[in-house]
Amino acid sequence: MILVTGGTGLVGSHLLFWLSKEHKTIRAIYRDLSGIDAVKKVFGYYTDDIKPLFSKIEWIQTDILNVVALEQAFVGVSEVYHAAAMVSFNPDDYYAMRKSNIEGTANIVNLCIDNQIKKLCYVSSIATLEKSAKSNLITEHNEWNPESNNYGYAITKYGAEMEVWRASQEGLKVVIVNPGVILGPGFWKKGTGELFVKTNKKFPFYTEGVTGFVGVNDVAKAMIHLMESEISNERYVLVSENKSFKEILFSVADAFNIKRPYIKVNTFLAELAWIADFVRSKLTGKAIVFSKQSARASLNRYEYSSEKIKKELNFEFEPINKVITATCSCYLKDMAN
Ligand SMILES: NC(=O)c1ccc[n+]([C@@H]2O[C@H](COP(=O)([O-])OP(=O)(O)OC[C@H]3O[C@@H](n4cnc5c(N)ncnc54)[C@H](OP(=O)(O)O)[C@@H]3O)[C@@H](O)[C@H]2O)c1
Repeated sequence: MILVTGGTGLVGSHLLFWLSKEHKTIRAIYRDLSGIDAVKKVFGYYTDDIKPLFSKIEWIQTDILNVVALEQAFVGVSEVYHAAAMVSFNPDDYYAMRKSNIEGTANIVNLCIDNQIKKLCYVSSIATLEKSAKSNLITEHNEWNPESNNYGYAITKYGAEMEVWRASQEGLKVVIVNPGVILGPGFWKKGTGELFVKTNKKFPFYTEGVTGFVGVNDVAKAMIHLMESEISNERYVLVSENKSFKEILFSVADAFNIKRPYIKVNTFLAELAWIADFVRSKLTGKAIVFSKQSARASLNRYEYSSEKIKKELNFEFEPINKVITATCSCYLKDMAN
């Protein structure tokens, strides 16, 4: 039996879809029933007949911080895909993120060891790779540098990777994937889903920062390939293409057939925006929506290489423009329903 954590999120729901095509039963954890509806919607993007695939999923309600309930979820399990994490660039979420991402991952790997799990796949991020190294292209070899100016989310993903490597030292076979910014349909109100919503609403701003992007189906397929391979105790950068936010937003606008964003945000404007949002948050008591970290990340120019997985697994990534066109088409269908 396979166990999936984070199945109600962007990566996990797509992973469940691809796993359900190959396996008789899969177990997935959820926290709230609305999460299960979100997964059903994702299955609906790829098949007209959801039931035969969706009914293969056995749902268990638990948080990854609830060890007692998690123990039940591990009964009869031989492989684990761990995609659950709190993703936030709001500094106020740092301690909650440490709990979910580091302590939650420690719970998962400890139960993997106790239950003699054959192999674990952990979804990390390019956020854990050192950026100031001399090479132009960032790879799996760019080891974390504690002296860099690291931000909350990255610190917690690195802490989680350390838990996974610790488990590998204790005998658990592991593979880690480090995806770039993941694009895909279904979760429009959070994460990269907002990028499609805002562009569709003619948000006029863009930046020329560069990073690595990857389609969500490629992330799911790479995880499954790695789990089915003989490979263990390795990590893999998952990036289809390095692109600027300007290129991405222009492609999204083109796919929606609307006017492209037309106001370039430079360092001065970005700094002004996060400071204004910080003051607004302090005055109103409402959450930060554009953090200092998000502002700076949108201007950085970092490029990544996925040569390792391309060479070792002959893995081919979907071009990002194709991912964007497909995602925009799902968005338009959802808005029409
Ligand atoms: N999205 C990206 O661009 C990106 C890029 C690189 C790496 N990643 C990594 O990819 C993984 C999946 O991200 P995503 O984009 O799919 O995020 P997402 O859509 O926000 O999904 C996160 C998932 O984790 C679950 N979760 C969070 N905290 C939990 C807890 N304490 N107990 C149980 N479940 C919990 C959520 O459950 P609920 O539905 O109940 O909230 C949801 O299923 C994460 O590890 C993330 O760090 C994401």
